[in-house]
Amino acid sequence: MANVHPSQHPLVAHKVTLLRDQNTEPKKFRELVREIAALLTYEATADLSTTTSQVQTPLEIAEGAQLKEKIGLVPILRAGLGMVEGVWGLMPSAEVWHIGLYRDERTLKPVEYYNKLPIEPTVSVCLILDPMLATGGSAVATVDVLKRWGVRKIKFVGIIAAPEGIHLMQEHHPEVPIHLAVIDERLNDSGYILPGLGDAGDRQFGTG
Ligand code: URA
Repeated sequence: MANVHPSQHPLVAHKVTLLRDQNTEPKKFRELVREIAALLTYEATADLSTTTSQVQTPLEIAEGAQLKEKIGLVPILRAGLGMVEGVWGLMPSAEVWHIGLYRDERTLKPVEYYNKLPIEPTVSVCLILDPMLATGGSAVATVDVLKRWGVRKIKFVGIIAAPEGIHLMQEHHPEVPIHLAVIDERLNDSGYILPGLGDAGDRQFGTG
């Protein structure tokens, strides 16, 4: 699938297996979500632009690099929140913007209930964070909001995706790269990914 990047890294595969395990407790689950988010972000940001800079070492001047672009992290509530700390560890000056969406049970469409984005975009790259790309409805709606805000470079970073969610994203936003740990088989009738890991929000926040 074009523009879909499942990780090939053995560390990611190992950690996702632990994440799926129904016996993994919320504390360990949160730790794994943070670690996997950092590993996937490392891969997802390999094409970020840099400017050259010089740095004085204790011995002499060395040529260096600095990230050129302002990065925004946009966790999809609520499960995406657990990914923020892992990514922030890598890029502490990233801004975190929250956009709240819920699914209208009658129309099945995402409805925006929280959005405090300023009029002008303050970042040039946004990483949308959601461990589970299931139907894809929230991811598509979040990209819609970010494009309207004026962000030109948007990437999706998730842990497990269903083919249904990937297809919806590619239908609406084919230029947005999708970085994942793994692509699973399908959605069940209740919208859960199979084999998946259950409800990623409940498993992080101990509400299951
Ligand atoms: N959200 C989850 O937390 N889990 C799924 O399987 C699908 C959506």
